[in-house]
Amino acid sequence: MNRMHPLRTLALTALILALCAGSALAASKVFDVNQEFYPYYPSLIKWNKSSVPFNEPRNCGGCHSKQYKEWNGSVHSLAFKDPVYQGELNKGVKAVGHDIARQCEGCHSPAGVVTGEVKGPGNAGLSDMALAGVSCDICHSISGTTHWQTPSHEPENGSFILTPGVETTEGQTLIKRGPFKPSDNCGAGFHKCEESSLHLQADLCAGCHQVYHYDAHFPIEATYLEWKHGPYAQKEILCQDCHMVDTETFKKSADEFRKPERGEYRHYFNGANFLLSYLAAGAAKKAGDEKLAKSLMQQYDMAVERLKSAADLELSPVYRDGRLAEVKVRVKNIRAGHNLPTSLTNVREMWLEITAKDEAGKVIMTSGSLTPEGSLPADTRSFNSDGMGNDFHFAIDPWKVTAFSRHETIPPRGFKDVHYGFPANGAKTVTVEAKLRFRQAGQKEAEALLGAVPKDIDLKAIYGLDKVPALPVVDMVVKQANFATSQ
Ligand code: HEC
Ligand code: HEC
Ligand code: HEC
Ligand code: HEC
Ligand code: HEC
Repeated sequence: MNRMHPLRTLALTALILALCAGSALAASKVFDVNQEFYPYYPSLIKWNKSSVPFNEPRNCGGCHSKQYKEWNGSVHSLAFKDPVYQGELNKGVKAVGHDIARQCEGCHSPAGVVTGEVKGPGNAGLSDMALAGVSCDICHSISGTTHWQTPSHEPENGSFILTPGVETTEGQTLIKRGPFKPSDNCGAGFHKCEESSLHLQADLCAGCHQVYHYDAHFPIEATYLEWKHGPYAQKEILCQDCHMVDTETFKKSADEFRKPERGEYRHYFNGANFLLSYLAAGAAKKAGDEKLAKSLMQQYDMAVERLKSAADLELSPVYRDGRLAEVKVRVKNIRAGHNLPTSLTNVREMWLEITAKDEAGKVIMTSGSLTPEGSLPADTRSFNSDGMGNDFHFAIDPWKVTAFSRHETIPPRGFKDVHYGFPANGAKTVTVEAKLRFRQAGQKEAEALLGAVPKDIDLKAIYGLDKVPALPVVDMVVKQANFATSQ
């Protein structure tokens, strides 16, 4: 055996120690972050910095009034002002420090982050551009993505590049990117146009709709990857094909894998968040803006309508030894292009409420009925997830959640079966009613978030809220069936 000289061993040890020290500084080999490449880390947003300004939506609306009317009142237009968001951001900054605000704002107010205008929670003193959240001049200034260069090598945490325009010898030129080959007069002298295939891909939406824990890289919201691994992506039915159209067109995209016609695209971006539309409509009414209140209530109706068309229920009996042993409830995701529910699955609540009655109308079994305080009983069958921190304890805040202890969402065009047993009480037939119910959050969670809004957002003055009301619930599907108790 070739024995090493003690001095050489020492040198080797020193080298190894030096290498270890080096790798301790480079945070992670699996999720390596190049912070020079991503100057707004933990947001992965990039900006081709120049003196060319971002334009607030009203400026675009001067010529594009149809798109403006549709977008104004969308959840995108509320992404920054959203009081639920502001409450959570305020809590996050207190818990982790100011750096985390950049991660959040990179998606909730991208322009506010790159220009350095938004420095934390609150709305006071900010420009209309920063307040406009995900606005025209965000999406139409996106010139590319860095989806492959990210720590996860997937779209995440705002991995897109903003280029609102270029500086030339003649001065500033605004460039807006969209689906068309530019016509001669495209932009009417206000902006130049560029045809962009990115705007006809889900990749445009992906960077914001794939949210990772700021440090641990756990995918807290994974709408994009859920979609990408499902049947709609295979058939090229994109986010845009279901969310940038009216309700009837969305149903056709989902049912027939049919791409909308060019003229059918709209700027509604309507999803499931009926609560936010409702709160904002209250604020618009209070501020005397009836037009905005109307488009917010239209968004509210569209969200409820979307939820009501997303799922279906099937009830069937299970007999054992000739006796009705259980009722099986199959919950089907028939029209969501991703899991149902998606996004903030550890906050959203979707659950089954079951009531079984005998032939005399006496209730013999219930499950999933809200308590008078508005909480769900522990044995409720829910389709969402439970967040968990590093310590195996329940966690809900995005800076704490590094895993899911339970993840029960329903994949696109997939289903989950739930079995309910019955007490044998001599009934001849049972009538079972099953409801699939949805709300944005649990009552306690909503109260905690809205209770944490920064001081300049006065819930009473702006939203007319004295206290957090009982959160509204949407019944997505209601089905009834009768079963004989013996066969
Ligand atoms: C979340 C991203 C996003 C936002 C915000 C957004 N757009 Fe668009 N816009 C798109 C996409 C994607 C298309 C292409 C849709 C398609 O396939 O036709 C588009 C298309 C357009 C077009 C081409 C014509 C049309 O309607 O299809 C115009 C003009 C336009 N947008 C203007 C605006 C204006 C003005 C605003 C703000 C009031 C805005 N956009 C906000 C993503 C966005
Ligand atoms: C990668 C982009 C991205 C990042 C980063 C991000 N969010 Fe979000 N956030 C979203 C999207 C997309 C939704 C919408 C999900 C949905 O509708 O279920 C959302 C929704 C929310 C909501 C729910 C709002 C409501 O009205 O129900 C809250 C609260 C929130 N985010 C807080 C935060 C905080 C705090 C941070 C920073 C720690 C953060 N977000 C970081 C994209 C992001
Ligand atoms: C002075 C009028 C005017 C203003 C202001 C204006 N646009 Fe346009 N824009 C046009 C015209 C004209 C076209 C040509 C197509 C059309 O008629 O819709 C166009 C086309 C577009 C397209 C389609 C480009 C393509 O190739 O697909 C997008 C996207 C767009 N504008 C975004 C914006 C955004 C974002 C703003 C605000 C920052 C804005 N526009 C402000 C006049 C304007
Ligand atoms: C086949 C149609 C379809 C496609 C494709 C689709 N969605 Fe959805 N989406 C729905 C339906 C239906 C809902 C309402 C049910 C739900 O919340 O899942 C929804 C809800 C949402 C929500 C709201 C979640 C919440 O809790 O508020 C977001 C955010 C969303 N979709 C984003 C996307 C993105 C991003 C893509 C592309 C990666 C996409 N969707 C593709 C149909 C679709
Ligand atoms: C710059 C980041 C960003 C981009 C790009 C983006 N989104 Fe969003 N989107 C958000 C944020 C943030 C929210 C949530 C705002 C909130 O709830 O406060 C959201 C919410 C939504 C919702 C949910 C509405 C609801 O009711 O819950 C839908 C649907 C949606 N986006 C679709 C899209 C589609 C389709 C695209 C691509 C054409 C897209 N988004 C691109 C950031 C973005």
